[in-house]
Amino acid sequence: MKKVCRILGFAGSLRKGSYNRSLLRAALELLPEDAELEIFDLEGIPLYNQDLENQPAETLKEFKAKIRAADAILIATPEYNYSIPGVLKNAIDCASRPYGDNAFAHKPVALMGASVGMMGSGRAQYHLRQCFVFLSCFALNQPEVMVSFVQEKIDKDGRVTDQKTRELIKELLENLVAWTSRLTP
Ligand SMILES: Cc1cc2nc3c(=O)[nH]c(=O)nc-3n(C[C@H](O)[C@H](O)[C@H](O)COP(=O)(O)O)c2cc1C
Repeated sequence: MKKVCRILGFAGSLRKGSYNRSLLRAALELLPEDAELEIFDLEGIPLYNQDLENQPAETLKEFKAKIRAADAILIATPEYNYSIPGVLKNAIDCASRPYGDNAFAHKPVALMGASVGMMGSGRAQYHLRQCFVFLSCFALNQPEVMVSFVQEKIDKDGRVTDQKTRELIKELLENLVAWTSRLTP
C-alpha cells in the first residue's frame, strides 16, 4: 500500500475572497489519490517579536505543530510590491524561531501563486525561494505555477475555472508527492 503524503497548505493572504486561497481550494480538488491536504489560515499569528519568542501564541504553537506533522508544505502566495506579503513572511519568520526550533527544517515545499498582474506572483515566489535556503527547506523546482491576470481565471464563487491553471496545480501536487517520497522514502 502506498504511503499517504500529508500536505499542509497556507496562503499569504487573509482576504476572504483571496485568489490565492482559491488556488488552495482547487488543490483540494486536484490532489493525487495518495495525498491529503489540510489548509491552515494564517489569521491570528501575531507579529514577530524576539522578546516574546519563548511565549508563543496558541495559534503559532498550532501552526508549528501542523508544519512538523506534515510530510510536505504547499504555499500559495500573492505578490505585494514585487515581494512576499508581510502576513506570509511574518508567519514564516515566527515558525522558524527561536533559533534551533525551525519548524520548516528539511520540509519539502511547493509554491504557487496568483496576482492580478502579468507576473503571476513570480517575484514573490523567487524571494520565497531565497528564504528557503536559510530555512533549510527542500523546494520543488517544477512546475512554476505563476497565475497571471488571475481575475480572468477564477469565477465569482472563487472556483478556478481556467483549465491550464488546474492542470498546472495538478502537476505541482503530483511532483510534490513524488519529491517528498524521494526525500523521505
Ligand atoms: C499592498 C499590495 C501590493 C501589491 N503589489 C502587487 C505587485 O507587486 N504585483 C502584482 O502583480 N500585484 C500586486 N498587488 C495586487 C495583487 O495581485 C492582488 O491584490 C491580489 O488579488 C492579491 O492576492 P489575493 O487575491 O490572494 O489576496 C498588490 C496588492 C496589494 C494589496
